[in-house]
Amino acid sequence: MARNIFVTGATSGIGLCIAETYAKHGDNVLISGRRAELLGEVQARLSKEYGVRVETLVLDVRSREDVESKVPAAIEAFGGVDVLVNNAGLAQGLDPFQDSAVDDAVTMIDTNVKGLLYVTKAVLPFMIDKNEGHIVNMGSTAGIYAYPGGAVYCATKAAVKTLSDGIRMDTIATDIKVTTIQPGIVETPFSEVRFHGDAERAKSVYAGIDAIQPEDVADVVLYVTNQPKRLQISDVTIMANQQAAGFMVHKK
Ligand SMILES: NC(=O)c1ccc[n+]([C@@H]2O[C@H](COP(=O)([O-])OP(=O)(O)OC[C@H]3O[C@@H](n4cnc5c(N)ncnc54)[C@H](OP(=O)(O)O)[C@@H]3O)[C@@H](O)[C@H]2O)c1
Repeated sequence: MARNIFVTGATSGIGLCIAETYAKHGDNVLISGRRAELLGEVQARLSKEYGVRVETLVLDVRSREDVESKVPAAIEAFGGVDVLVNNAGLAQGLDPFQDSAVDDAVTMIDTNVKGLLYVTKAVLPFMIDKNEGHIVNMGSTAGIYAYPGGAVYCATKAAVKTLSDGIRMDTIATDIKVTTIQPGIVETPFSEVRFHGDAERAKSVYAGIDAIQPEDVADVVLYVTNQPKRLQISDVTIMANQQAAGFMVHKK
């Protein structure tokens, strides 16, 4: 039976691929992000190509007010939610901590940690009501291994992992599952966002390495949410073949 999947950050990169992978699988998707025009384009394409229901929600996860008012209404209209993929997130800057911009740090914490927390709080009551559901949180190998210039981004992804573990404990008496996905280097617009639109610098991150593709991550997300009820995959760490830790990559 078709499930209802809510994906944050579905306008680009990994989230867009996750939405498409579920649509291809026959599930209905509620896609969200800040860029309304992109959401509309994705909605039109996915519903036409896969014949599933695709709904959109323009949402800045940093706005607690917006999340609290818009998310429950969108889920009601969608007819409930079976899987939440908390994917919206970003890195800003790669300067040493002492030279880094506090504004960048605040943006990362507000998006990757507080945003994920607001969305999860807004969605969980629907899952608790049904006594089931699956929360998939997008962490990173950055949450396991800190790297130079990434102190705050790495800390936000460590927080994602810890939040997931804590929520899994607190919902243990329900059939709700919680999974953290921790990808390594994935080729998406992520680096362009990190370098504030510097496309050349972003390209150099992926030069000489066969990076993970967003489709690879989406396949893993689909896999973890397609397991029998008895089975809960708590964490999955995925690296490129030429990657051994956070920023330790072998370039050809
Ligand atoms: N690429 C990698 O190497 C890598 C590795 C490990 C983990 N990750 C994680 O994977 C997730 C997706 O990243 P990506 O690589 O796919 O990058 P991306 O292509 O830049 O996509 C980021 C997505 O997050 C959304 N987003 C950002 N800020 C938002 C906000 N305030 N409110 C709502 N949505 C917001 C963006 O949508 P709008 O701009 O439309 O709002 C976009 O859809 C992130 O959590 C990232 O930390 C990435």
